[in-house]
Amino acid sequence: MHEIRNHQVFIDGCGTDEIAEKYGTPVLVVSVDDINDRICQLKNQFLDRHADVRAAYAGKAFLPSAICTVIEKAGLCLDVVSQGELITALKAGFPPERIEFNGNNKSLEEIQLAVRENIGRIILDGMDELELIEAACSLENKIANVLIRISPGVDSHTHQFITTGNVDSKFGIPLHGGMLDLTFGKVHSSKWVNLLGFHCHIGSQLHDNGPYLQAVSVIMDIVADYYKKYEFVTQELNIGGGFGIRYTDDDDAKPYSYFMDPVMDCLESCCAKIGIPRPTIVVEPGRSIVANAGTTIYTVGAIKEISGVRKYVSVDGGMTDNIRTALYGSKYECHLNSSEKCHETVTICGKCCESGDIVVWDTSLPTAKRGDHLLVFGTGAYCQPMSSNYNKIPMIPVVFTSRGKDRLVVRRQTYDELLERELSDDGAIEMA
Ligand code: LLP
Repeated sequence: MHEIRNHQVFIDGCGTDEIAEKYGTPVLVVSVDDINDRICQLKNQFLDRHADVRAAYAGKAFLPSAICTVIEKAGLCLDVVSQGELITALKAGFPPERIEFNGNNKSLEEIQLAVRENIGRIILDGMDELELIEAACSLENKIANVLIRISPGVDSHTHQFITTGNVDSKFGIPLHGGMLDLTFGKVHSSKWVNLLGFHCHIGSQLHDNGPYLQAVSVIMDIVADYYKKYEFVTQELNIGGGFGIRYTDDDDAKPYSYFMDPVMDCLESCCAKIGIPRPTIVVEPGRSIVANAGTTIYTVGAIKEISGVRKYVSVDGGMTDNIRTALYGSKYECHLNSSEKCHETVTICGKCCESGDIVVWDTSLPTAKRGDHLLVFGTGAYCQPMSSNYNKIPMIPVVFTSRGKDRLVVRRQTYDELLERELSDDGAIEMA
C-alpha cells in the first residue's frame, strides 16, 4: 500500500521520513494492510474456490511474534521449521493444531516439543526421523499426525540455492533406490503415527506452473500405487509454497489462480481415475504473503564516485539486514525521498567490511546526499530472518503499519544485547 506524495513514499498512509525520524534507520517497515490484501487474494483465488483446501503460511519467510496474530486472525495455518519458530508461534498463542512442522534434521527435543504441544502435523523428511517421532510419541504417550515429504525429482528452474525438489536435494525422500517404499511401509504400520498423506515443495520464487504440475503428477502416481498395494487412501497432500512475486520488472509475477487452477484440475482428474476422493490440498506460501509488504528505510552516508567506473552510495545497513543480493544476486527496486529527478546510475552498498556487501546494483537515482532517506522495496521476506551481526552491527527494528498508524513490533538490538552472551576471559586462557 505505497503511494508517493511530495516525493516522499507513504506506506499505509504513514510517511517514511516520519517513520525514519521516529525509529531511526535502518528500519524494516511492514504493511499489514498489504499482507491482508495478499491473504485476500489467496482466499479469492484459491481457498474460497474449493472445498477441503488449506494454506499454512511459511514462517521462515518472516516470523516476528507479531505476525503470528495477523496469520492467526486471517485463519491460515502456520508452517515452522525449527524449535525457535515453534516456540515463537506457541508463545504468541498460535493454535497448536494449526501448526505444521517441516525440516530436514529435526532433533528429538524438537519433535518431543511438537508432540507434547499437540501440533497439527509433522512432515517426516527422512526414514530415520521415524525413530525420533516414535520415541517422542512413546515418551509423551501420544500419536502424531504425519505426512511423508517426497523429493519428486523435478527441476523448478529457480536459483540453485532455493530449489528443493530436484533429485540431488537434502530435502524429502528420493523416489529411486526403494527408500520411499521402505519408509512408507514403516510409517504406515507404526502404532505411534497417523499417516495422513504426502508433502512436497519444489522450490521458491517460481513463475511457471509447469514444475508444480509435474510434481503433482509424480505424487499422484505414488498415491495411486499405495492405494493399489495397501489400500492406503491419501487424506492430505501438501504441495508446498514457492509462488513467485515481483521484485523488479524482470519478474513476471502470476496470480495464485495461475498456479492452483491447473493443479486442482489435475488432482481432481487423477483422483477420479484412481477412484478415491480428492485429498485435502495444502499450500505453504511464505514469500508471496509478505515480501512486497516490506520496505527497508536507510539513511545515505558516504558517497564515492570512481570516475568512469561506478558511483557508490553507501547506506547505514546492508548485507546484515538483507543478504539476498550478495547471496543470490537478487534485484530490488529503490526510491530516494528527494525532490530531484532520477538522472544517474549508482550502486547502493552497505557498511560491512565486504566488497560483496551490495544492496542494489546499478540503479537509477536522483543525486543522493548524506542524510537522505533511501527506500528498498520488497524486503518483507527472507531479509529479517536471514539477518546477522556481521561486523557487530545490531539487528534492525521492525515497524508494522496499517491504516495510517505505525507500531514498533521488534525493537533495534542494543549494543548491550549484542554483547550479553559473551563471557569475559578473566585470564582463563593463560591458565589453561
Ligand atoms: N514450504 C517449504 C517446505 C519450504 O521449504 C519453503 C521455502 C516454503 C514452503 C515457502 O516458500 P515460499 O512461498 O516462501 O517461496 N532464503 C531464500 C528462500 C528459501 C526458501 C526455503 N523454503 C530466499 O531468500 O529467496
